[in-house]
Amino acid sequence: MRTLAAARTSAGQPPVDLRFPAGFQWGAATAAYQIEGAVRANGRLPSIWDTFAATPGRIAGGHTGEHASDHFRRHREDVALMAELGLSAYRFSVAWPRVRAAGGGVNAAGLAFYDRLVDDLLAAGISPAATLYHWDLPQELEDAGGWAARDTAARYGQYVAAVAARLGDRVRLWNTLNEPWCSAFLGYGSGVHAPGRRDPRAALRAAHHLLLAHGHGVAALRAAGVTGQVSVALNVGTVRPVSDAPADRDAARRIDGLLNRIFLDPLLRGAYPADVLADTAALSDWSFVREGDLDLIAAPLDALCVNYYQPDLVGAGPDGHHDADTPYPGAEGVAFHPVPGPVTAMGWSVDPGGLRDMLLRVTRDYGAPPLYVTENGAAYPDEVDADGRVRDPERTDYLHRHLAAAHEALTAGADLRGFFVWSLLDNFEWALGYDKRFGLIHVDYATQRRTVKDSAHWYGRTIAANGVDRPR
Ligand code: FCB
Repeated sequence: MRTLAAARTSAGQPPVDLRFPAGFQWGAATAAYQIEGAVRANGRLPSIWDTFAATPGRIAGGHTGEHASDHFRRHREDVALMAELGLSAYRFSVAWPRVRAAGGGVNAAGLAFYDRLVDDLLAAGISPAATLYHWDLPQELEDAGGWAARDTAARYGQYVAAVAARLGDRVRLWNTLNEPWCSAFLGYGSGVHAPGRRDPRAALRAAHHLLLAHGHGVAALRAAGVTGQVSVALNVGTVRPVSDAPADRDAARRIDGLLNRIFLDPLLRGAYPADVLADTAALSDWSFVREGDLDLIAAPLDALCVNYYQPDLVGAGPDGHHDADTPYPGAEGVAFHPVPGPVTAMGWSVDPGGLRDMLLRVTRDYGAPPLYVTENGAAYPDEVDADGRVRDPERTDYLHRHLAAAHEALTAGADLRGFFVWSLLDNFEWALGYDKRFGLIHVDYATQRRTVKDSAHWYGRTIAANGVDRPR
């Protein structure tokens, strides 16, 4: 029998079947409103999520982000936990409502929180990855028209310049936006997210203005001479037709257009896809796209960040099918089908092949940019057992299978540089409140006590080994 020491490779890592490249970034991700709490500290302004959460009937259980996981006060403890797990990177978001002063200008006290966080991360040997917009628009900007108004994009550029001036020397990876699809289509289309508007025309305008904001943000980051990589995080999905019938294939094309290509094409090819413009022509002539916008939006990026949870299975709806609640403007006739197989507590299907296919599709169709998976993970109904342990084998299995799928994509040519588990901590899961637990670390909301789940210990061993065994 070999001793453990003898079994270690020359790099000092335990042997595994699927080893990731040297320097691969192992991270976990969070977002400001989901974890910070302290919504009135140091002059933070109200955001659309404060307003939305205060509106009866919007959030399950009437929950709000007022206290969340209390990370604003406990960030030192949380960074120590990250270090214990051996994370090489941590993706957090900067809250615009903390950085903006009422009426405009910069709230230096709000920005100081992120300054300290970044220093604490670096002191712990963890690479800071900052998302500049994870859905928390200052309410006063929504009152001025929100993302349906062009001016919001310019305001965003000014905000990014302020953050870049303060953190630009230390953040290693920048995401201008998190999942603009959700901001535009859940926020302004189906209205299940803040600000809760149900207006497909406004949703299309919002999508363009978010992309324009990204362009202003990239320009501001470059002008500040930031040293980290500049990117954007998209929820790129794998969209499969329910059958080979032409109508079902066309439904998949439409949803792929409105989920993926509507963002990927302007960002990486400098043009909106013609079929998306045609599919939405009854709603909009897209005259909100002005000369020069696409040049700004398509400024070169250093990487592309992708978030993945589950694939979509779609087909043509039966005659007369009209989904008035769809977030997809112009795709009311498309029917979404359940994906066979296991699901998480969100009801989301567990389908690691969708992650592999998505990484390879982006690689094939968009010039093989360096990629990061900036979110992947699963909610399960975790509990702290009497012995103080959280046993969450399903989450370990979920992450294991998705990491193996990511490795498959790497082997097939995707230039994958890192992987961030969603999420570091249990947190406020938007419209679903606190009942959906995605964390590697359990949070008891009554006491704010943290418990490292079994899956987090497994992730720590994965990081130490820089890989996983082939799942069985
Ligand atoms: C993503 C969001 C993230 C989290 C996960 C479960 O769409 O970016 O904040 O809510 O879903």
